Amino acid sequence: MSDERRSSRAARRFNDAETRFQGVYSRSVLNTLFQAYQPAMARTLFLLFVGIVGRIALLANTNVMGYWVDTFCRAPSPCKAPPSLFSGFATADFLWLLGALTALGFVLVMWFRVGISRLSADSVSRVYDETTLRTSRLPMGFFDRNPAGRVMTRFSSDYNNVFRVFGGPLAEFVMLVFDLLAMTILIAVASPWFVPFWFLLAGLNYGVYRWNLPVLRAERREMALRRSPGIAHFAESAQGMGTIRAFGRQANFTDRFALLNDSYLEQRFRALGIFVRFSLELYAVTAVAFLATGLAGAALVREGWVSLGGLGVAFAYLGLSTTILQAFFEWLGQFEEAMTGVERMNEYLRLPIEPGARLPATARFRTGHPIEDAGAIARSARVGDGAGQGASIEIRDLWMRYREDLPQVLQGIDLQVNPGERLAVVGRTGSGKTSLVQALFRLYPIERGLVRVAGMEADVGQAAPEGRALSLEKYRGLLAYITQEPAMFLGSLRENLRPWALRGGATDRELIQALRRVQFLRPTATDAEYAHWLEYAVEERGRNLSAGEKQLVCMARCLLQDAPVVVLDEATSAVDPRSEEILTRATEEFFIGKTQIVIAHRLSTVRSCDRVLWLEDGKIRRLGPPPEVLPEFGSVELVEVPFRKP
Ligand SMILES: Nc1ncnc2c1ncn2[C@@H]1O[C@H](COP(=O)(O)OP(=O)(O)OP(=O)(O)O)[C@@H](O)[C@H]1O
Ligand SMILES: [Mg+2]
Repeated sequence: MSDERRSSRAARRFNDAETRFQGVYSRSVLNTLFQAYQPAMARTLFLLFVGIVGRIALLANTNVMGYWVDTFCRAPSPCKAPPSLFSGFATADFLWLLGALTALGFVLVMWFRVGISRLSADSVSRVYDETTLRTSRLPMGFFDRNPAGRVMTRFSSDYNNVFRVFGGPLAEFVMLVFDLLAMTILIAVASPWFVPFWFLLAGLNYGVYRWNLPVLRAERREMALRRSPGIAHFAESAQGMGTIRAFGRQANFTDRFALLNDSYLEQRFRALGIFVRFSLELYAVTAVAFLATGLAGAALVREGWVSLGGLGVAFAYLGLSTTILQAFFEWLGQFEEAMTGVERMNEYLRLPIEPGARLPATARFRTGHPIEDAGAIARSARVGDGAGQGASIEIRDLWMRYREDLPQVLQGIDLQVNPGERLAVVGRTGSGKTSLVQALFRLYPIERGLVRVAGMEADVGQAAPEGRALSLEKYRGLLAYITQEPAMFLGSLRENLRPWALRGGATDRELIQALRRVQFLRPTATDAEYAHWLEYAVEERGRNLSAGEKQLVCMARCLLQDAPVVVLDEATSAVDPRSEEILTRATEEFFIGKTQIVIAHRLSTVRSCDRVLWLEDGKIRRLGPPPEVLPEFGSVELVEVPFRKP
């Protein structure tokens, strides 16, 4: 199969995996919008009132002019006397009235526009914040299934569609709605005869819109769907640029991007063609309604049923309405796009979060997710009281798989680790070592079995014995983790060292001490040099640090966390042998008294542990002291690291 066909199949598969919508906004979408506006509901209603009064004042100028014209007529002519309110009005009075209406209308309309734009921008940014709160608590499986690019699309282009309309042009759109309402009232005031023509015009426009609606919606959604694979591919390529270049595969990646982009552009042009056709159809029906009004209007004036001023008003409104209706239905399209954006954000907003996780008490939207009580934050500031103490780990008949359709990666693990024990975990690649840690952290739901740390279970929504359950957050606070792929974030080295900074944290002195203990700099480095490093600007994913440096920072972070259990997953695989030896010895010293789970492929690390757990295909093959397990596990599986004394 050619690369091209393969990529297009991949693109299609990606598209299919994206959510498809039914074309009707669900109640939950409307509820989300309602919740977004709720805190400012009274202001919203007041501004809407200001807006409609403003528009009526501005448009009423037309009626006043009609009455003014009629005062110039002499009977018997196709004129009617203006209402008694205007009897005795001279030219100057009409001019004053027109001026006053214009000024009032202008002030009210501006007030409305600025007010509603600011209020809406605030309201929709609430949707963004609330979605972020929940997305950061979604189960790990969600991130496995959804490529980063797809998640990014929701937070970039979908949200942008929402903000682009709600953060500004929404005022314009609402204004058009006001115009349509105001015009209906004012045409009726000028002459009820024209009301049917006005409804005919509006009805025809609406008919064209309804006729085109399914295809317009489908085209827009297709466009949103075709945008994400390109973004996903771009993000992935940017991350893997080093590998792509090393293998000289730039062409494949640019070709694939071109293919995905072409698919998007092709859809964009298709959609554009359909929008143009829609506009033309609106013009055509408007012309027909206009003609009908003109002919009927002439007859009505001839019969003396309508005054000349009245005819003038009706024509002015119908002329104006051509543009307003067109703009209204075109805006309706943009509005739909924004609503599709809300719908897509809303989907993430309402996904179930990780079992046992809670939203912070600051969450405002009621989406049925459990909320943490405010006091819990203070209580969980530092877990692992009795610093320096280890905790026991108890694992019984543990089964886990990553997804329903995947095989079990842990199959009936039974394990008891004593407080302060150092347990090495060995096994071939893919044997389930990291998975065991993921289960310990309750990062993925376990299929069966029991996991306890310090005698406590994580409260993940299942019944735990009375007094033995800890909230997920507190439970995880018992464990410190140096992952196989150290996670670093954009920010200073200081921020990277204390990710829990918001809940109180370490002082610079403590941070420097920790860095010094892992020998981040040469032994002779001064405190000033270290202090300088705390300011170091770490780039995204720690790009500007070496793999070993990242591991050292993570090690320091772990030291600062001071949790009773420390998990080191290949924590020293990227540092040079000398640093590794230092670190391995140092971990024995740093974490003395703490329970340690050390996953390593190197003999030197494993040998010094109290016991060795040998995993094979997710089962325990052997568990015992190193001299018993290691000969059988075989030196072939472990790497001997040469070490020279400095
Ligand atoms: N997020 C995931 N989704 C689906 N399957 C996974 C996931 N993570 C790991 N696996 C699978 O689970 C099995 C065990 O993987 P695990 O990461 O636990 O191995 P490991 O022993 O840590 O290997 P290594 O020494 O290479 O780090 C592997 O077959 C792997 O493909
Ligand atoms: Mg692993």
